[in-house]
Amino acid sequence: MAVDSARSESTRLLAWYDVHARSLPWRAPPGAPLADPYRVWLSEIMLQQTTVAAVGGYFATFTRRWPTVEALAAAPDDEVMAAWAGLGYYARARNLLACARIVAAEHGGRFPDTEERLRALPGIGAYTAAAIAAIAFGRRAVVVDGNIERLVSRLFAVEEPLPAAKPRLRALMDGLTPETRAGDFAQAMMDLGATICAPRSPKCLLCPIAEGCAARAMGEPAAFPKKAVKATRPHRYGTAFWAERDGCVLLRRRPNKGLLGGMRALPTGPWVEAPPGIKGAPVPGDWRVLDGQVRHVFTHFSLDLALARASDLSPSPPLSGDEWWPIDRLDEAGLPTVFAKAAAGIREGV
Ligand code: ADE
Repeated sequence: MAVDSARSESTRLLAWYDVHARSLPWRAPPGAPLADPYRVWLSEIMLQQTTVAAVGGYFATFTRRWPTVEALAAAPDDEVMAAWAGLGYYARARNLLACARIVAAEHGGRFPDTEERLRALPGIGAYTAAAIAAIAFGRRAVVVDGNIERLVSRLFAVEEPLPAAKPRLRALMDGLTPETRAGDFAQAMMDLGATICAPRSPKCLLCPIAEGCAARAMGEPAAFPKKAVKATRPHRYGTAFWAERDGCVLLRRRPNKGLLGGMRALPTGPWVEAPPGIKGAPVPGDWRVLDGQVRHVFTHFSLDLALARASDLSPSPPLSGDEWWPIDRLDEAGLPTVFAKAAAGIREGV
């Protein structure tokens, strides 16, 4: 969609919202006086990472028990935490109470009415501040959540993948957002996303702004937003050798260059695409690979490290960098995590 037609798209979407807005308990009907900021704030905190359907009952309980921000601020912590149980993310409940108490104690029980001042409160990030400023205070704020990103990426057929496209999508939403009724507009986008412009099968025939939708014109609305293909991490297999003699285990310093360079380690064979068995054992012996392995994820690959031990080691000349290290002081060897895990695996029988 061309940006210059954005205004007419917003008008059309608001007209659709006037008729089709979902009736939700924290909302004022379209075009009506603004909703109570306490209820808007409470709903937005509850809706973070939770669905409208899941929030309904909690919202009813909270507003019945604590109808104002002062009432919530005065509530005992454990009662609020218990009422929140099931919504998950306890940090959010703690922030909810902290925020209510600041609003009650420092703002005379009234929520600040600008994005900037809202953002200074616990639990209120960029999205929530914009949503409250627009919905509860009628400010022109640019509200962008994951659903709105999807809609905007489709309207403009944004080829750039997420998350890199975020600033672009926000700028495009800025261009769409009307000077007045920004709160209704944001909620119209949310409703369109929830009922019509669904992630998988958008119902374009019902969409009030389908005509201006570039993704639809291309015939593949669900192909947007584009997502960055995650580089798949290669997987490797290796074996760590537990050579034990007189209460000591053989540690071998790793070459200075390369992964974990210069660190003490259990000796290992090659790290390759298929389990190497006992290839690369540090000393001759009756090596046996134990059941199970230790998994470790490095930045550039993941590793399954099998563990091998021997009961009968043949004497062999030490290599430089080899040390027989007392097993009861192994925690002082400074082993990198993967080898500490391997040593723990050996001691626990993997
Ligand atoms: N999700 C987050 N905020 C919402 C709102 N105000 N209406 C509908 N869904 C939402």
